[in-house]
Amino acid sequence: MSTDPSIETLRIREAAAGDLDGIARIYGTLWCNTLRNRGDIEDAELAARFNVAMQLQDSPIALVAESDGEVIAACMVGVFDDGAPRPNPAWQQTYDELLAQATARAETADAKLEGSLFGDSREKATSRRFAATGNPYAQGQVNLIIIDPAWQGRGLGRRLIDAARGHLRDLGCSAFFLMTDNQSDYAFYDHIGMERIAEDHSQDTGDGFTVYIYGDAC
Ligand SMILES: CC(C)(COP(=O)(O)OP(=O)(O)OC[C@H]1O[C@@H](n2cnc3c(N)ncnc32)[C@H](O)[C@@H]1OP(=O)(O)O)[C@@H](O)C(=O)NCCC(=O)NCCS
Repeated sequence: MSTDPSIETLRIREAAAGDLDGIARIYGTLWCNTLRNRGDIEDAELAARFNVAMQLQDSPIALVAESDGEVIAACMVGVFDDGAPRPNPAWQQTYDELLAQATARAETADAKLEGSLFGDSREKATSRRFAATGNPYAQGQVNLIIIDPAWQGRGLGRRLIDAARGHLRDLGCSAFFLMTDNQSDYAFYDHIGMERIAEDHSQDTGDGFTVYIYGDAC
């Protein structure tokens, strides 16, 4: 595939406070449909906003791509200092507020809503354990990469990963990792030449759910 020329000229910039809803719109389109399809619109929106804010407060590098003023993709990247994640304080208050809302909602939630709200948090715990082992890839982490379905397959994912590599190199990192799973588009990472360095089956509840960790040089 040659990259769509309109992708090469697309603006990629740091995420700003007003971008939360735009990023959450894409996240919700990709991953909160089971809630939306059963009519839980408010819960689907809370799950999307909470999960996006969680990744933002954990990502000193937070990039969005925009077209005609609309966010169409996001890539959030964490940095580790001796195995410990470096926070992004700009998003702390938003995250704290949404965490309080999600926690209150979860008190009466069923398993589906609880999973939508806190599944990513559990995955993050796995990545923190991995980073704490001092693995040489655990210098940076792509916490989230999402492309609006209307913009997928045109070279934007590759461009965002390349932008992430550049930012990580600027911060002195020589390698990074990311977590995905067998229910996501993990073959993208194989295709762009990343290496699957570990698998985690601890969240397999009988459906074969497997977390994959991929790594690469910056
Ligand atoms: C996965 C994702 C980030 C890829 O971004 P994208 O903009 O669609 O991908 P690109 O157009 O940059 O593709 C770059 C290359 O990877 C290939 N590719 C893209 N998605 C692929 C997939 N799911 N499986 C295998 N190869 C894939 C493309 O064909 C292209 O190959 P080429 O350059 O050799 O022709 C995007 O599709 C997405 O947001 N998916 C939903 C969310 C998700 O699953 N995120 C990642 C897992 S956590």
